[in-house]
Order: sequence, then structure tokens, then C-alpha cells
Amino acid sequence: MRTPLLFIAVVGVFCPSATLAAQTPVEQRITALIARMTLAEKLGQLNLPTYDPSANQADLARRGLAGGFLNLVGPDATRDMQKTAVEQSRLHIPLLLGLDVIHGYRTTFPIPLAEASAWDPGLAEATAKSAAREARAGGINWTFAPMVDIARDPRWGRIAEGSGEDPYLGSVLAAARVRGFQTYIMATAKHFAAYGGAEAGREYNTVDVSERTMREVYLPPFKAAVDAGVGSLMSAFNEIAGVPSSANPWLTNTVLRHEWGFNGFVVSDYTSIAELKAHGIAASLTDAGRQALTAGVDMDMVASIYVDSLPALVRAGKIPMTVVDEAVRRILRAKFRLGLFDDPYRAMPPVDPDTALARRAARESIVLLKNDSSLLPIASTVKSIAVIGPLAADTVDPLGPWAGLGRPGDVVSVLGGIKQRVPSGVMVLTAAGTGVTDGDTTGIANAVATAQQADLTVLVLGEADSMSGEASSRAWPNFPGAQERLEQAIVATGKPVVLVVMSGRPLILSWSAEHVPAIVQTWFLGDQAGHAIADVLFGDVNPSGRLPVTFPRSVGQIPIYYAEKSTGRPAAPGQHYTSKYLDMPNSPLYPFGYGLSYTTFAYRDLKVHNTALHGTDTLVVSVTVTNAGTRAGTDVAQLYVRDDVGSVTRPLRQLKGFQRVELGPGASQTVEFRVPVQQLGLWNQAMKYVVEPGTFHVYAGSSSTADLAGTFEVVSRP
Ligand code: NOJ
Repeated sequence: MRTPLLFIAVVGVFCPSATLAAQTPVEQRITALIARMTLAEKLGQLNLPTYDPSANQADLARRGLAGGFLNLVGPDATRDMQKTAVEQSRLHIPLLLGLDVIHGYRTTFPIPLAEASAWDPGLAEATAKSAAREARAGGINWTFAPMVDIARDPRWGRIAEGSGEDPYLGSVLAAARVRGFQTYIMATAKHFAAYGGAEAGREYNTVDVSERTMREVYLPPFKAAVDAGVGSLMSAFNEIAGVPSSANPWLTNTVLRHEWGFNGFVVSDYTSIAELKAHGIAASLTDAGRQALTAGVDMDMVASIYVDSLPALVRAGKIPMTVVDEAVRRILRAKFRLGLFDDPYRAMPPVDPDTALARRAARESIVLLKNDSSLLPIASTVKSIAVIGPLAADTVDPLGPWAGLGRPGDVVSVLGGIKQRVPSGVMVLTAAGTGVTDGDTTGIANAVATAQQADLTVLVLGEADSMSGEASSRAWPNFPGAQERLEQAIVATGKPVVLVVMSGRPLILSWSAEHVPAIVQTWFLGDQAGHAIADVLFGDVNPSGRLPVTFPRSVGQIPIYYAEKSTGRPAAPGQHYTSKYLDMPNSPLYPFGYGLSYTTFAYRDLKVHNTALHGTDTLVVSVTVTNAGTRAGTDVAQLYVRDDVGSVTRPLRQLKGFQRVELGPGASQTVEFRVPVQQLGLWNQAMKYVVEPGTFHVYAGSSSTADLAGTFEVVSRP
């Protein structure tokens, strides 16, 4: 794994009691600086206010009472504040300047869930790097990204910000994004931890998962981010089994610091330390601050409790000074690693938007869900196209949630993209039909009349950008407002319909899957949405996106994910007392890893190269992929493993490898997967990670339902 450029300069020490002589030169400088700091200055380093134009925040910087700011944007404003800190504060300590650069700064790339559909870590690294470069030119030195929360509940609006349901895919993308961001600025892996496990998908809600599920599902992407050198982690809003993440010593000190050896810092989420009171584990804000700091949360975002309320507690000996000093050390270490003590501004000239990368990312993110009778790509016989729907001409919603400084003026709408791409002589008609969220149906008749005049309708439906992201849970994730009525009316015209779905989550598409011949899942694709969608609709690009998350048939199946357990009574046709529904199959509408292409791929010759493996070996599996159609295309070859018998129950399948394979018509390629046996372990009943001897199955193919299978055996432990 490549070490991020910024982070090779300094190797810090974790052990707080390391003697001065044993410290690196940078750690010695930090030690010397801490020795000169007053208690107020120390707690000031742990304070992260949000920018407030109505307050005199320069004064905080001058008095050393802020370690950084969030939401202060623009090269001039950031420079002024930094100048105040380094020139006018007593110790000249530079500031961290943080912002949510989630999927772009000014240039807006697809939302992370969309980009996860590309199964392309190189792409994720490139977009993160590009966003970080723009942000750096804007004066930002720290992003609150990537969000690496595993999410298996599409009701939860923040599913849009992550990589979906799978810990392996999530880990690969987490590491790629960390590398990308940290080429220019510091990254934050968030939200530590299990924030995506909110009960009923309701934002900020209780999480109660076992330690095994934490270790198998929710923690791996954080570990991958730590291994990739991430500078900071953000503690989550939620509790886990009674202990809120923002005051959870097991998470922050035991797992993160002692087990993983992380020596960056942990920042709280926005007022999440103050919220320990509402959680009911702290009687006062002061006590909330004490619990958070002693649990290892180094920096207090927005609540200002550390700096305002903790001095008395430290002076009274209720919080050891060593705890404060260690937190300060972690913040200062991050500033040294960023190079802020050498060059606090780290200025870079602005860059032009990388529209080519944004378009490539948008194209790769698109998932073709259905394409009956090869309705797509649009045939040359089509002489008129109706582009219908409330999102057809929209340039706001394609930006998606957390669009940073993205602007609607930069966005290409679906209508705009189609108009620019249609062959000359093809007529393009349009009508909105309805709004995105309101129930007004008065425009439907006109939309129907428009569709009737055209050979084919592209129907663009979905969510508003604000319906996913933070505080945007939906109990019923369908097409909002009157859009379902519009869809039914357009389908009733009997004309061919291509449904384009823009959303920040899997929507319930069961009706569409039954009645609409072609469905394209586009998520929110950012600035280049319209061009990328037109590229796919007209066949200039063969869709290659694969679902990073399961699409349920119904809300009643949620949570639903491919890596489920067998249960003692697996569903069996005709058998009543088995794990199933009376009114619906167990299977999803579209499984994890699924996505169509304009060509077809065939898999054969699955070979397990070493069928008796020792613990230190690497499993090697190969499979031959053939493009069996007449167009060039890209498939994502996927490898799943099942541990047949374990000392604890195992998922039916777990993703262990994937590769994008680009093939011309008729061409074949043999793909090789290499999986260290060490990665086939489990957390046993004593909660120790072990690789257990025994037999395993492997499956390879185009999705999590791949049926080409092989077996192997682990014959000894590592
Ligand atoms: C709250 C969100 O949960 C977090 O993801 C974000 O980074 C902070 N606000 C700062 O905007």
C-alpha cells in the first residue's frame, strides 16, 4: 500500500510516557511546545468552533483558544485567520481549517454511493485527490471525509455518503479515498463507529450491535483508513449498546489506539459531546466534556465545552494533565504532519475544474438495472424523444447532498445532455409533469400528451438532493410527491419508456421493475450528470456500474444484505417452518454486485489453484471471463467466499476480491484473485481473530448471486 506523500515525513510515537530521548525530533518539538503552553492554550488546541461571521473569532485565534475552524471558506478568509493565529498568538501555532469536502469542492463528482458503484478504487482516489487539490487552493487543509460507515438500511439518508453495505468494498474504497485526499489535505474517517446501524434507519438513532458485528462489519473500513495513514477520525453521534461513541473508551482507546496503533487524533461530531447530556450519560456539559476527553476524543467540534468548562476540572485533578497533554500532542502532531509549522498557508494556485474526470466518474457510476428487448441504447430509428419528469431539466438536485461549493450553474441536466447528444433531425420534447416532492398532479396530462407525440420517453424520476444526507431518513423510500402517478400515466401510454432514477439511496422500484422496460440507476452524479447519462443512453458508453448495496423489493425486507447468515431453518420451497415471509420472497429486487451491460459476460473455468492451504498461504482462484456479445464492455468480476463450518456462524457469502475487466466483443480474459488465508478468519467465541481449519466454498461471477463454484480447505492455522 502506498504511503501518502504528506505523511512520510514524521513517524510519531504512541506511548505517552516515551522518554524525550526516545522521541523523534518532531515529537521533541511538540513536547517542548506543550511545556510552554498554559492550560487555556492547551484546551484551546482541542477546540474546533464553526465559523460564525457574527462573532469575533479572530480573537479566539489570537488568544490561542481555537485549534482550528470548520466551515471557514475561501482563500482570503482562511488566509486572514491563519495569519492571525501564526502572527498574533503567543505560541504562533497554526490552525486546522476543516470543511466537508465529501464529493467535490467546487467541481462536484458523483455522491460516494454512486462512485462506489464503479468498483474502481483508482477512480475514487482520483476524485478525492482532485477535490482535495481544489479545496487546498481554497485555503482548506482538512476534510471531514471519507465517510466509511457501512449502511444496510436504505431508509437512512446518509447511505448516500458512503460505499454501501459491504466491509470489503468499503475498506478498499476507504483506503483509496484517504490516499487521494491526503495527497493535498488531511482526511477524516467518519463516523466512528456503527453510525449506519441506526435502528429503523432513523437518523441519530440507537445502535445495538454485537462486538462481533462491529469487528466483522462496521470496523474494517476504519481499520483500512488507519492503515492507509488517515490523519483523523470523527466520533459518531450514536450510542453502541448503551455507550455513546463520543465517550466510548473501548472504541477510541482500546480498539483504535491500542489495537490498531492509530496515533492521529479523534474529533467529535458537531456538538456530539454536548449531546452526551441528551443521551443521558452526563448530568452536565462539564461532565460530558470530562467523559469525552478521558475516553480519547481529542477535539471538541462546536460545543466549546473543553475550552469553557474543563479548566476547573483539570486544576482540581479530576482530569489528569497527562490526558490533556496527550490530546494536545495528537493535534500538534497532525499540524506538523501537514507541514503547517513550516508553511501555515500551504497555498496553491486555483485549478480549472476537472470536467473530464467528473464525466468519467459519472459514467462509471451508472448502473443499468433493466433493459428488456435491448431498448437501450436508443436506436437510430427513434426520431423523437420526450424527456419527462420533475428531474429532467433540473440542475440543482443532481449535485446531491453535501455538494460543497458546487453550483447549479455548472450542472448539465439530463435534458441538456440529451439535447447536446441527439443526432441531428431527432426531436426532443419535454415536460416536467410534477414537482419532485409536492402532490400536484395538474401537469401530468400535459406530460402524457408530450410522451404520446414521441417515439420514446426518457422518464427522469427520483429524490430531491435534500432527501438524503444528514437528518434525511425516509420511512418509505419511494418516488416522492406525485411521481408514481406520473410514472403510471406515462407507462399507460404504451410508448417505450426508459426510467432514469436519481436518488441518494436504493428506492423501492418493484412497480417500475414490473412495468417499465428499461431502468437506469444514476444516483446523484454531480456536474456532468446530463452528459454522462446521455453517453449511456445513446451507447457512447457501455454501462459498467454494479450495485454496492442491495435493492429491496419492499420496505418490509429492510435491513437486507447479501452477506446474511443461514439461520437454523433456511428458507426452503414448500416448507412452512422456515425463515421466510408469507407475502414476499426473501430475495431482493436487485442483488449486491448486480448491473447489466449492453453486452453479456460469461464465466467459466473457475480454478482453485491450491486446495489445501496453510495459515500463511495465499488462496489463488482464477476464472475466465468472456464478452459473449457484440460490443466492447467492462464487467466487474467478483469473488465470494463461504466458510462452511465455523466455531461461530458465518455469512453465506463474503466478498473477498473484485476486478474490472474490459473486453472487446468475443474476447476473453483470465482473472486471478489472490486472498491471503489470514483474511479468511473469524472472531471466535473468545472474541479472538482466528483462521480456523476447515472447508470453504468460493464463487465467482458478475454479482453476489454468482453460481460458478469451487472448494478448498484450510488445513492448519497460521
Ligand atoms: C455533522 C455531520 O454528521 C458530519 O459528518 C460533518 O462532518 C459535521 N456535521 C461538520 O459539518
